[in-house]
Amino acid sequence: MCGIVGCILKDDDKKVAPILFDCISKLEYRGYDSIGLATYDGNMHIKKDKGKIEEVNNKLDLADMPGNYGIAHVRWATHGDPSKLNAHPQLDEENTIAVVHNGIIENNSEIKANLIAEGHIFKSDTDTEVIPHLIQKYMDEGLDLEHALRKTIDILQGAYAIAAVSSNEPDKIVATRKDSPLIIGISDDAYYLASDSPAILKYANDIIYPEKGEIVILDKNDVVVHDEFDNIVHKEIDTINWTPEMAEKEGYDHFMIKEINEQGTAVRNTLTQKDNIQSIIDDLGHVSRICFVACGTSYHASLTGKYLLESLAGISTDVILASEFKYSAKTLDENTLVVFISQSGETADSLKALDIANETSKTLGIVNVVGSSITRRAQYVIQTQAGPEIGVAATKTYVSQLTAIYLFAALMAKNYDLVDELDKVPDYIDEVLENVGSIKSMSKRYNYAKDFFYLGRGYSYPTALEGALKLKEISYIHGEGYAAGELKHGPLALIDEGIPVVIVIPPGDSHRKTMSNLEEVKSRGARVLAFGADDDEELFNKAPEVFPINRNVSEIIAPLVYIVPLQLLSYYITLEKGFDPDKPRNLAKCVTVE
Ligand code: M6R
Repeated sequence: MCGIVGCILKDDDKKVAPILFDCISKLEYRGYDSIGLATYDGNMHIKKDKGKIEEVNNKLDLADMPGNYGIAHVRWATHGDPSKLNAHPQLDEENTIAVVHNGIIENNSEIKANLIAEGHIFKSDTDTEVIPHLIQKYMDEGLDLEHALRKTIDILQGAYAIAAVSSNEPDKIVATRKDSPLIIGISDDAYYLASDSPAILKYANDIIYPEKGEIVILDKNDVVVHDEFDNIVHKEIDTINWTPEMAEKEGYDHFMIKEINEQGTAVRNTLTQKDNIQSIIDDLGHVSRICFVACGTSYHASLTGKYLLESLAGISTDVILASEFKYSAKTLDENTLVVFISQSGETADSLKALDIANETSKTLGIVNVVGSSITRRAQYVIQTQAGPEIGVAATKTYVSQLTAIYLFAALMAKNYDLVDELDKVPDYIDEVLENVGSIKSMSKRYNYAKDFFYLGRGYSYPTALEGALKLKEISYIHGEGYAAGELKHGPLALIDEGIPVVIVIPPGDSHRKTMSNLEEVKSRGARVLAFGADDDEELFNKAPEVFPINRNVSEIIAPLVYIVPLQLLSYYITLEKGFDPDKPRNLAKCVTVE
């Protein structure tokens, strides 16, 4: 939703602002309607405004601020419009305390009303502003910054990662978290905090993960973590293997197209998890039912998991949207394995569901971000190996999730032929990527459309759903995915002259019936864009537009390959329409609020 960073340099004479600006720029995918920094050099310096990072920086020169420590924020507005006043850092009345916050303070209205009754004057419409006011109040009562923050979070309800500085207690940053991500980075010459690792990869690879309710105090000599009883906690230091280049565009126009192109590698790297997955299976014991829980793209990966596990391993499998889990998961027991699929590992809906599932069942997280909350709360973890994904639209993490799910299902079913077949997937993906020219020209012919339909059957149904999601989230064209056989039960009424219908039609059992659906829509005037095998003569005869995919991509592994041209189609249509695919309106990469 938002991104926060903080940094304290050991060298008093060095300026922190260029580093803060560099770090916070790496979190633009978490929020891009406002940006702000606070630094301190004996005086508090604040620069902030609404607008994208580049726009605000052109106006304010954010890297030019004095002081060797400070905090920064990128905002994705929830409470209060994007505006200079609502941008973070938020301040107390005397401008002595600056706070950056990611999350939502659910009881902010009540707190604000109480503070107003006590004489506090508020300037913004944010939920965050209550935090510096509470810290100020408790510091005025005699507490130090750390304990004022502790007393503040005793009152706060909701989700938060918070960092605060105070001119009454200089040379220190305090931070805490609950249900929003926060990591601490350690290097030889500085300490950092950040919402996500891409922010600090360039500066620090040694990471501490604070737990809910712990207070972290960074000064130029040390990082100290206190638990809720004020005891010092000795935290383990993990090392992140991701490189700074992984979080750069490296010559591509957008992160999204870079990440689409990295998919062969992402699959190859995730296949290395085979032994880890086998040992998880060996350890699981009896599993009579599997229940996938996820949101968005990760939900679509989960749907593929249902088809695989039911047909290959014969295990009854459900797929539940994380936000619906608490309303529908009434029949979990100790023989149920609840599998959480998540790129970020921080999605609030999924975390809530995980807490519920942990009470009764075995839990497994399939997660991309190392050290994220799901990896720390699930009983078993499969780490997908996509590397950092910055584009808001998930691409390489989707195929990595699928790879992990395929390995899991194939190993559960002892289907070693399928395990071997997965080795060929990276090459099939690379073949699709080489044919990008035909997708580019397709995108020029279809960017006029207001609506798109995506049809697929069986294993290709989740691909249709995911293709439609990719289109709508970045191009703002309405895209609807359907199980092809469901069309005649209603949606066929919408098929009209010229409407584009994407048909996912790999060779296999569902081919004949999907071909009938193709005829159905074509005879009603739809413009069919088919994605099928390169030797499918019937398809080439019947569909006016066919994107050919290697004939050896079987129906069962098609989800790993057929999604790639659909991602490319969405990307190039979005460029045709003049939108930024990396920063779709109203969306953020990591959804840390319910
Ligand atoms: O980090 P997660 O995988 O838990 O995120 C779930 C969804 O928010 C995410 O997949 C979202 O739908 C993406 N923007 C899709 O491209």
